Amino acid sequence: MTTLEETPTVLATEQNEQGYREFSLGELHFRRDEYFVYITWPTGSHVMSADAFLRALQRDVAWEFFYGIVNFDGVIGTVNHYGTVDLFAGRYNDSYRKAELDHVENFPTPQIKATFEEMLDDWTNETFDPFAAPRETGSAFGVKNGENRKAITRHRVKAARMVSCTGDEQIRSDETGHPVNEHFVDISQDEPEIIAEPGFEDEVKAFSLFAYLSRSDVTWNPSVVSVCKDSLFCPTTEEYILPIIHGNDRVEWFVQLSDEIHWDVADRETGALRAKVVMRAGDVAAMPANIRHQGYARKRSMLLVWENADPDIPELIATGQTPTYPADF
Ligand code: PHB
Ligand code: FE
Repeated sequence: MTTLEETPTVLATEQNEQGYREFSLGELHFRRDEYFVYITWPTGSHVMSADAFLRALQRDVAWEFFYGIVNFDGVIGTVNHYGTVDLFAGRYNDSYRKAELDHVENFPTPQIKATFEEMLDDWTNETFDPFAAPRETGSAFGVKNGENRKAITRHRVKAARMVSCTGDEQIRSDETGHPVNEHFVDISQDEPEIIAEPGFEDEVKAFSLFAYLSRSDVTWNPSVVSVCKDSLFCPTTEEYILPIIHGNDRVEWFVQLSDEIHWDVADRETGALRAKVVMRAGDVAAMPANIRHQGYARKRSMLLVWENADPDIPELIATGQTPTYPADF
């Protein structure tokens, strides 16, 4: 909780010629125009397409910097230290490192979060939803044109117990009235029949995860639907490209529930390509803790991301007490 006095100040300019404000975090400066975002730091500069930048920024904000590294692309990104966040340029890029053009600055989480939130708000036009698949949103481009606060302030849905248990009815898609997505009209909407022993009606619960996910109106945005100690089931619906390249600080498992996703897997430190993984319905893969990965889905697909939320894991892996891979065979 931040109180009013503690609310971090966001360093922003007045509107530029295209109507957008410019933002600074330490020595890193962010500017956007009709098509692009320009990032500068003392030893370098970088350009990204505005739509790709906003899609990545949206995930970083909504996930509170996620586990480990969130690469916006091969140059810009953040590292979560769970309390503080590194903002970097070229730090996980072999060429920038070798040329000594890379830059890292550490910020208290509330400061970088507040700045990113204002940037996302100011730079997202009325026509653009950074969570939506390209076929379901209008353009991110052009001069400043309104806002889309409703879309950008969506939060990752968190369950306190398994979805459908008492107290979690509010997060059921059925009740919030989301229509079945066009790509999922073949998904059965039947809910399981539950026959509980008398006295256990509040304990024995079930729901159709496929029906639940078929109504998701966002892409590449896992929601926690069950929590068992540190074990989190985070299913999500995917279409087009994962807007970030995730450099994990722990192992995570992927269970492909429907359709197909192609993954590029690269070295976590340098970005050197290590593997191409094609996952089809029923496939299960573990992403080790020393890589970065980005997924591509031609058609909307369902993916179960299985996370281990144990806060000790990054330290155990960094100090070699736990391996970067999940199992010895
Ligand atoms: C991941 O980085 O593992 C990830 C993030 C978002 C998704 C799927 C996977 O929707
Ligand atoms: Fe990941």
